[in-house]
Amino acid sequence: MTVQYPSTSPVQPHATVIPPSGAPRPRLTFLGTGYLGATHAICMAELGYDVLGFDVDEAKIAKLAAGEVPFHEPGLDELLRRNMSNGRLRFTTDYKETAEFGDIHFICVGTPQRADGMNADLTYVETAITSLAPHLSRKALIVGKSTVPVGTASWVQDLVSRHAPVASEVEVAWSPEFLREGFAVEDVIKPDRLVFGVRSEWARAMLYAAYKGVFELAAAEDREVPVVVTDFPTAELVKVAANAFLATKISFINAMSEICEAANADVTLLAKSIGYDARIGKAFLRAGVGFGGGCLPKDIRAFQARAQELGVGEALRFLHEVDLINQRRRTRVLQLAAELLDRTSGPAGPDFTGVKVAVLGATFKPNSDDVRDSPALAVTKLLHKTGADVTVYDPEGMENARQELRDVSYAKTLPDAVAGAELVCVLTEWEEFRHANPAALGELVAARRVIDGRNCLDPSVWTAAGWVYRGMGRPALD
Ligand code: UDX
Repeated sequence: MTVQYPSTSPVQPHATVIPPSGAPRPRLTFLGTGYLGATHAICMAELGYDVLGFDVDEAKIAKLAAGEVPFHEPGLDELLRRNMSNGRLRFTTDYKETAEFGDIHFICVGTPQRADGMNADLTYVETAITSLAPHLSRKALIVGKSTVPVGTASWVQDLVSRHAPVASEVEVAWSPEFLREGFAVEDVIKPDRLVFGVRSEWARAMLYAAYKGVFELAAAEDREVPVVVTDFPTAELVKVAANAFLATKISFINAMSEICEAANADVTLLAKSIGYDARIGKAFLRAGVGFGGGCLPKDIRAFQARAQELGVGEALRFLHEVDLINQRRRTRVLQLAAELLDRTSGPAGPDFTGVKVAVLGATFKPNSDDVRDSPALAVTKLLHKTGADVTVYDPEGMENARQELRDVSYAKTLPDAVAGAELVCVLTEWEEFRHANPAALGELVAARRVIDGRNCLDPSVWTAAGWVYRGMGRPALD
């Protein structure tokens, strides 16, 4: 048997394909209007496609249909409203309408960590497919975008074959998404690469048609968008491998932080110095309280679980260390706080009963309102457990933080949060905190002590203003 290796050519074929609906451009649907699906749906409408967003969550769809993005993402509200008023973008909770409308159905539902282990929970993927497929009365392409364990695309193709009335005509493809919160619009409209996992020429041509707007924009700006055309398992693995690499890079520099702390060295200068080496690169070497969010933590766990199932668990054993290093950075903030407050730690950790602590930041990173697996919120919980009297302030994440953690106080402004504090912890690097005036804040606090959990403040400016400063992986400056 001859093995046909899929093409990895970045050259875009010009073969045109007529969408099954007969429309000049394929009509796109997005199943799941969370972060991934809503952003993608809105951006593809902006690129000129007729788009239908679907979700089972009626409240979410009602919000979107009213022109409101249900999460914080710079620039997205305006695009949503523009494309709803020009008629290119609509939303629904009806599977039948979705099936009838679309030539290409993008699966963008969540794949959270299972409650009973590290694996990804594929329930939402299964429901989306088995509910959509029976209504597919003409040829269509189902494209997986959700981050999934390798092997899922084949399983989805089997599900489709069993549930679609025109089974043989409905094809599956996998095209992972690499968008970052805070830069999501840019990442969708101007991706640094596209990956198409396909089994047929037709699927490949349909995907090119779906992204024609992206290629045209790039050509107009004299850019090129590389495309890797590959098989299902490679396409699925690209996403988890990329996230595993990014998580590893962050944990690497955080491990160096631990060494720097023991050796009285400065990890920020270490990162800067190694980052000049083009083979290493300076991105993702910001040491601090570590990574969080809806992707990296759960993806590295699901990847390990899947590798175990495939009998190659050892290959990813290092990801367990990556996770542990990441968790240790959170408890390190407590150790620093104990040092600064001159409290000893017992077997149950330090006791900060009655100490007033201001926490600046709740989201897992700036320019987002997302608090999923947020290091800032995790540290806040730890501080609260020590008996500290904690007040949190975050420019965008307060509502979500309050739902996750009710027992602490929330301040409406940065000055309100720090008023009377004996310790200030900066745990998300929002601009507002980076550019805060330490002299003015110093007038409000009870004691000038600051922990810079993201190494985002200028230690010399803060110490000059009379603050005792502690960074992560940096020598103590008193
Ligand atoms: C990530 C991937 O970057 C993206 O490609 C994928 O599609 C989804 O997952 P996102 O979760 O939006 O995107 O956040 P990212 O910018 O990657 O940051 C993840 C976490 O790492 C944040 O908590 C951030 O604060 C932390 N981080 C990042 C560091 O601690 N140090 C760094 O140097 C970089």
